[in-house]
Amino acid sequence: MTDTIIQTTGLSRNFKKTRAVDTLDLAIGNGELFGLVGPDGAGKTTTLRLLAGLLSLSEGEATVAGYDLRKQSESIKKHIGYMAQQFSLYAELTVLENLRFFADLYDVPKEEMAERTENLLQFARLTEFTDRRAGHLSGGMQKKLALACTLIHEPKILLLDEPTTGVDPISRREFWDILTNLHLNGTTIIVSTPYMDEADRCSRVGLIYEGKLVICDSPRKIKAELPGEMVEFLTDEWQKAKTLVENLPGVLEAQTYGEALHLLVDDGDKRLKQITKALTKNGIEFRGARIAPVRMEEAFISLIQRLEDDNG
Ligand SMILES: Nc1ncnc2c1ncn2[C@@H]1O[C@H](COP(=O)(O)OP(=O)(O)OP(=O)(O)O)[C@@H](O)[C@H]1O
Ligand SMILES: [Mg+2]
Repeated sequence: MTDTIIQTTGLSRNFKKTRAVDTLDLAIGNGELFGLVGPDGAGKTTTLRLLAGLLSLSEGEATVAGYDLRKQSESIKKHIGYMAQQFSLYAELTVLENLRFFADLYDVPKEEMAERTENLLQFARLTEFTDRRAGHLSGGMQKKLALACTLIHEPKILLLDEPTTGVDPISRREFWDILTNLHLNGTTIIVSTPYMDEADRCSRVGLIYEGKLVICDSPRKIKAELPGEMVEFLTDEWQKAKTLVENLPGVLEAQTYGEALHLLVDDGDKRLKQITKALTKNGIEFRGARIAPVRMEEAFISLIQRLEDDNG
């Protein structure tokens, strides 16, 4: 890996009885695009806030951009851009005023203001809306403005907490085009997301579960972790089909996506034949039976399922 820019050892944070982050060991390389995923309440926001120097550590050590989180959390702030999960703009201020506000907050040199603001407005496709109040922007535009405000001081590390939640697919893609650009320019990005297609775009993904980092690897390797192979059938009678096949030998899990029935099986070729036979025998019409590539979503649901089973 390239130089490590974020490193934590045994990082923990307690809120009274809740152990929100539990002995987290994490090493993020300079320039990585790192995805943070996990169920609601897993500890993603707490992790990001700790790394942003906004929360004190209960236990453990962490360095960000060479600074010690325990002793130098104030010095970290100018090197990072943190975008909170909730709305963090000034609703009454216009797009431009919000940008200027954050520029002042981060001591952006006056002579650089105009150019940076202009670039960011273009970047976020907000040039036409400079005079609109932030509170009157669409949800997607608000997220892009929040990102622009996060970028105004040109931080080398970005910590983004569910930046696209609730945003329409087009804006989501635009947002990710921006992130990909930043990534290509060498910015280190840690982004939490509930969207598995987004996790799939990261160089590595960390899955947090009950405050613990339970897996941390490239999307390809995480998908390869799934025990078995995925077979897919397209059928209008997916409910009937699911009931019929989910208890057949070798079928480990069954999930439906619209008319697609996805079955995790121990042996793709063998089970594809058996399931085809069973469906035909029971008069269930289907098409497009095939061994399908595993999707991040399936790998994720399956991992969580196994963790919950282990927990009893
Ligand atoms: N300020 C706080 N005081 C008390 N408990 C807190 C506080 N912040 C977080 N927690 C608790 O810590 C745990 C982790 O919360 P956190 O917000 O980090 O989860 P998350 O993974 O970001 O969840 P979500 O996906 O819902 O945003 C939860 O049990 C939460 O209730
Ligand atoms: Mg959160």
